[in-house]
Amino acid sequence: MCGIVGYVGSQTASDRPLDVVLEGLRRLEYRGYDSAGVALVSPAAGLDTAKKAGKLANLVEELDAHPMAASTAAIGHTRWATHGAPNDVNAHPHVAGRLALIHNGIVENFATLKAGLLADGVEFTSETDTEVAAHLVARAYDRTGDLTQALTEVARTLHGTFTLLAVHADAPDVVVGARHDSPLVVGLGEGENFLGSDVAAFIAHTREALELGQDQVVTITPTGVTVTGFDGKPAQARRYTVDWDAAAAEKGGFASFMDKEIHDQPHAVADTLLGRTDVRGQLVLDEVRIDESVLRAVDKIVVIACGTAAYAGHVAKYAIEHWCRIPVEVELAHEFRYRDPVVDEQTLVVAISQSGETMDTLMAVRHAREQGAKVLAIVNTHGSTIPRESDAVLYTHAGPEIAVASTKAFLAQITATYLLGLYLAQLRGNKFPDEVAAVLAELRAMPDKIQQVIDRSGRVREIARWMADTQSVLFLGRHVGFPVAMEGALKLKELAYIHAEGFAAGELKHGPIALIEPGQPVFVVVPSPRGRDSLHSKVVSNIQEIRARGARTLVIAEDGDEAVRPFADEVFYVPQAPTLLAPLLAVVPLQVFACELATAKGLDVDQPRNLAKSVTVE
Ligand code: F6R
Repeated sequence: MCGIVGYVGSQTASDRPLDVVLEGLRRLEYRGYDSAGVALVSPAAGLDTAKKAGKLANLVEELDAHPMAASTAAIGHTRWATHGAPNDVNAHPHVAGRLALIHNGIVENFATLKAGLLADGVEFTSETDTEVAAHLVARAYDRTGDLTQALTEVARTLHGTFTLLAVHADAPDVVVGARHDSPLVVGLGEGENFLGSDVAAFIAHTREALELGQDQVVTITPTGVTVTGFDGKPAQARRYTVDWDAAAAEKGGFASFMDKEIHDQPHAVADTLLGRTDVRGQLVLDEVRIDESVLRAVDKIVVIACGTAAYAGHVAKYAIEHWCRIPVEVELAHEFRYRDPVVDEQTLVVAISQSGETMDTLMAVRHAREQGAKVLAIVNTHGSTIPRESDAVLYTHAGPEIAVASTKAFLAQITATYLLGLYLAQLRGNKFPDEVAAVLAELRAMPDKIQQVIDRSGRVREIARWMADTQSVLFLGRHVGFPVAMEGALKLKELAYIHAEGFAAGELKHGPIALIEPGQPVFVVVPSPRGRDSLHSKVVSNIQEIRARGARTLVIAEDGDEAVRPFADEVFYVPQAPTLLAPLLAVVPLQVFACELATAKGLDVDQPRNLAKSVTVE
């Protein structure tokens, strides 16, 4: 939620700070697009700001009409509104005297702090919690004459979650940032330095980054980076090199990031598998730095995640329980966090998150660890908070996911959970080495099969375009097909804004079948006929039941499955695969369908309304 960029360079006042910040905001716009704004400082011109409601394009238009002065340092913000309507006034930066400040997060005690400032005669122009912080930092600066000290003092008094960046007209070669439960990374340049909510903000300029810890303040100048704690003492930050480049964060000729990311999926899965086996074909997960004796003693796994990541967890449950014979529970992180869950030292909690910043999941991680559970994070974003607060991390290698709706990260997450399940089975002796090697061989064949599904997606695109006026679509699945159905429904809701629901096919007769009326489109995810016999035939019966009531059946089935044909209005065939691995294929036509239907409706598939990529508020 909210994207933040900061820049300071050694050139005398120029256009570079503004250019760098606007480029960074373009790359961070997926984090929020209710408004955008920038603040520039320079010795000659002092402080200058510009902000506009709506997408970044509105701000750029404004800047074309009213260019800003050359500068030495700049900060920029793209907003996902929390306090105050998404209008020009509430857009960031917020100015207090000669200081400008931007914020990602929520200042929970802002009302109390604001009351104090109002009593002192401070006048407010916006409804935001951020403006309170701006006034507090400006007053602290007036007293101390030191921007770092001023921001540090104020950071100590704020409750909630925040990343704050500030610039001051009296310090035109400095940008200061502070973070608490909200992301901020540093980009290291030559004669210039950068700050960003994530590395995408500055990836066009440097791949060298610093990962900040919790409750740290960072001061960047053209030639230096200083990190301190909220106590003012020097602190350490971890340096790392980003393993992808600017091209990976571009559309690469596709109409949308989502379409590009759907096409990236074979690579996302292949890269997540890469380097995780030894010469004998055995799994080697060195990153899982949890003692093997602890992993052997695990008697329960609890997966915590939100949204699409939680559906990856549901797929994992089927696989891990089958391979390891360990009970697996899957729970939405925001529910887990406020419960009194039964977890202890023998519970392995698996936190799945693309961004590694989802506040609900982070809070659930803390909740689990407080009770003695070991937490293993499955995360896509290096330098993010969840891995840092977990006992171990298994990174997915999907590359940057820019479209707000998750696609390639989902497939990479499922793949990582398979690796984890097989690893535990290997470690605990549930499976013989050759059995693990056989599943891994099947898994390694999946990227090619995913590619085949993508290559065959012409028909599903055609149908999606015909269905642009549809009001409601249902999705049915059994076993691993059930989370696939739910993910298909989620994709359609969030992208096309139409009613969509996923059901377990067996649940149909317990209520949802009442929704079926003539013409109702229903996607059905059919399991392999080569798998457990009854499973396939039960789903075929479900198709017949809804067809008999007039449903329009859109069936996803395995190559060679002729049994579904008589009852399907359309069949989208996918290559054959073992049942447990089939979600990696079956979900792809559903992603394509949602993306294409939303595009046909003229909607922005990369930035659906009301959403943001990284949900860093609870
Ligand atoms: C849906 C989607 C969301 C995320 C969820 C968790 O397409 O992307 O449901 O899966 O917000 O986000 P992460 O994985 O970053 O924790």
